[in-house]
Amino acid sequence: MSFSVKQAVELLNQGIPVGMPTETVYGLAARIDLPESIKKIFLIKKRPFFDPLIVHVSNVNQAKTLSKEWSIICDELAKKFWPGPLTLVLKKSEQVNELISSGLETVGIRHPNHPLAQQLIEEVGCPLAAPSANRFGRTSPTTAQDVLEELGDQGIQTLDGGKCSVGIESTVLSVNLVLTQKSTSQQWQLRILRPGLITKKDIDGVLQKIGNYSWADQEAGSTLSSPGQMKHHYMPAIPLILVPEHMSEKQLALYVQQRLDQIPREFEGVKLHVPRKIEKIVELKLSEQAEIAARELYANLRKLAATKADIIYFRLFKSYQLDVWQALRDRLEKAASLKFTD
Ligand code: TXA
Ligand code: MG
Repeated sequence: MSFSVKQAVELLNQGIPVGMPTETVYGLAARIDLPESIKKIFLIKKRPFFDPLIVHVSNVNQAKTLSKEWSIICDELAKKFWPGPLTLVLKKSEQVNELISSGLETVGIRHPNHPLAQQLIEEVGCPLAAPSANRFGRTSPTTAQDVLEELGDQGIQTLDGGKCSVGIESTVLSVNLVLTQKSTSQQWQLRILRPGLITKKDIDGVLQKIGNYSWADQEAGSTLSSPGQMKHHYMPAIPLILVPEHMSEKQLALYVQQRLDQIPREFEGVKLHVPRKIEKIVELKLSEQAEIAARELYANLRKLAATKADIIYFRLFKSYQLDVWQALRDRLEKAASLKFTD
């Protein structure tokens, strides 16, 4: 018999983390009021304690209990995008254990749009902290089977909610109250810490009518790092190489062969299998429609990593530079070991 919500609730109440489906990627969930259980999440994932966790709620009222600075900005964003793939990073309340926020003053909060996640949080009656359910630095899981492959050896049980409909992690948005002597009303500063399906433009579309906010200085298209936003992340077990659109496989094999020494065997603690000789190469293919490509990305990467090829490559086609690809660009570039440019 498959693992039920009732069984998942029992485990969570005993302080044992469980795999939880969401619309973005699968998470490894634990009750936020059981610090030992939160600690287990870090140990199971081999995640450094400086990388904070996102807290998942089943409604806005629950979200409000987690933050000291819930504002009209948050109300509007939640009204439009929740439940959905938007995480709000806000000043935290006392309810949030410092293990969750890695000692920061803020906490990431999200209301996931998946019926099983919502049911689970409701039945537990407590928000759930959940990072993606992969070993640290690796490709995020988008099916229950992926979680089994990532964390099954640690005895993790997972609620099977099918394939994730979004496929890449939520947009992480920091909403920060700025106090200036001149200002008589509250001013908010926004910053995208991790791009996702919901873009800056989408957010502006909702907030422009309110107006008391600005975007933190940020280079166009770039993202400022948040703790744990490493340069390399989401990596498949074999090297992923980004190549110009028209490079032939033959050219590519030669090129990579000459540069094998440049591919580190380990990135920020994540081990990578680098071959001695390039014999088998496989292409990562994605839909040209960004939303569909997002759904395919991690599943395809996993499939290709399992073929035991020496390297995976991805062609940087023209529209790759367009805004709609920003979140995918972020994931692909962090997953890649090498990038060739024309
Ligand atoms: O879609 C998602 O967000 C998935 C699903 C499971 O909800 N979760 C997820 O969690 O991707 P995780 O832990 O893999 O990534 C969370 C990211 C990390 O880069 C972390 O540094 C950032 O969010 N983050 C969390 N809390 C933060 C905070 N208080 N300040 C800044 N960044 C924060
Ligand atoms: Mg993750």
